[in-house]
Amino acid sequence: MTLDISIVPSAQPRSAAEVAEILADPGFGTHFTDHMFTVEWTPEKGWHDARITAYGPLTLDPATAVLHYAQETFEGMKAYRHADDSIWTFRPDANADRMKRSSHRLALPVLEPEDFVQAVDALVEVDQRWVPESGSEKSLYIRPFMIATEAFLGVRPSQHVTFMVIASPAGAYFKGGVKPLTLWLTEEYTRAGRGGMGAAKTGGNYASSLVAQQEAIGQGCDQVVFLDGAEGKYVEELGGMNMYFVFADGHIVTPETGTILEGITRSAIIELARKSGRTVEERKFSIDEWRDGVASGEIVEVFACGTAAVVTPVGTLKWAGGEVRGSAEPGDFTNEIRAALVDIQYGRTPDVFGWMHQVTKAE
Ligand code: PLP
Ligand code: COI
Repeated sequence: MTLDISIVPSAQPRSAAEVAEILADPGFGTHFTDHMFTVEWTPEKGWHDARITAYGPLTLDPATAVLHYAQETFEGMKAYRHADDSIWTFRPDANADRMKRSSHRLALPVLEPEDFVQAVDALVEVDQRWVPESGSEKSLYIRPFMIATEAFLGVRPSQHVTFMVIASPAGAYFKGGVKPLTLWLTEEYTRAGRGGMGAAKTGGNYASSLVAQQEAIGQGCDQVVFLDGAEGKYVEELGGMNMYFVFADGHIVTPETGTILEGITRSAIIELARKSGRTVEERKFSIDEWRDGVASGEIVEVFACGTAAVVTPVGTLKWAGGEVRGSAEPGDFTNEIRAALVDIQYGRTPDVFGWMHQVTKAE
């Protein structure tokens, strides 16, 4: 704990009735808690001026570097309320490590993982009444982000950087709940290439995915699937989720890392599945193997996973001129792995992996 965080409470926190109304149906990413965390960086002073203040708009010079060159990184994680009212986050050290890797790729300064976790804990503690009740599948979605805040139009790493944490109560990411998604295979757009930013969690990757996602919606699909940039042959990931394929003989396959985001949910599923005796392969997985495997019955379930989406079944895959239909209902393994994960996150089963990090004590 190396940050010296000052706390200036909001003068206008939302009333208990307003918070209760929002928590009853939070949706995703539309409501924000009363406070935000901010810390600044310069080469001379390092990280300094850590503070928690009222949530509110930022004032930025129009020449602020991030607005022009997208030098930024972000994270996505959640806080969960357990039955005894204690509040926990899931593998925050993994998010902190990933932000360190992403920031290296974006030529942003290192925020030490312990400072990252301290900042997240401090905000969650101040805004703990915003963590939805236990027993629901709601949570508090936490969005740490680092932006280049020097007002300078030259193209070089910013000499002023700001790291912030905001939080937003979250219900289901998909409005339809846990129902199989229909995916669109884009053959025009790719998300990442060798030496690019695919493994970094940075806004540019999401900006580049939007036109492909629009194409997917235009085709009546929910999400878009990206293939590798070099050969256009191997499945990478969705715009905000990793992918898994479940074979009839019980083994599961997930695309190897390199140009995809190293999902924390993806890696938790690898450990959970291996512990339950399944063989997990991380390897190149071609689009033909997907199409042929579903058609022949060799692949029995497909699902996507991520912090926001948790574990979400995939039904049909469509592409220009064809489709393969998967099941209209979530498969057994998809349901099992989802339950195994959320039961740990909500404290309903023992956390034998040491994944949960306690932020506040039981009431
Ligand atoms: N892939 C992309 C592009 C994402 O944005 C996300 C979400 O963060 C994931 C995968 C899943 O990562 P995680 O499980 O760490 O949330
Ligand atoms: C997350 O799951 O945390 C993400 O960042 C994905 C985003 C598309 C909401």
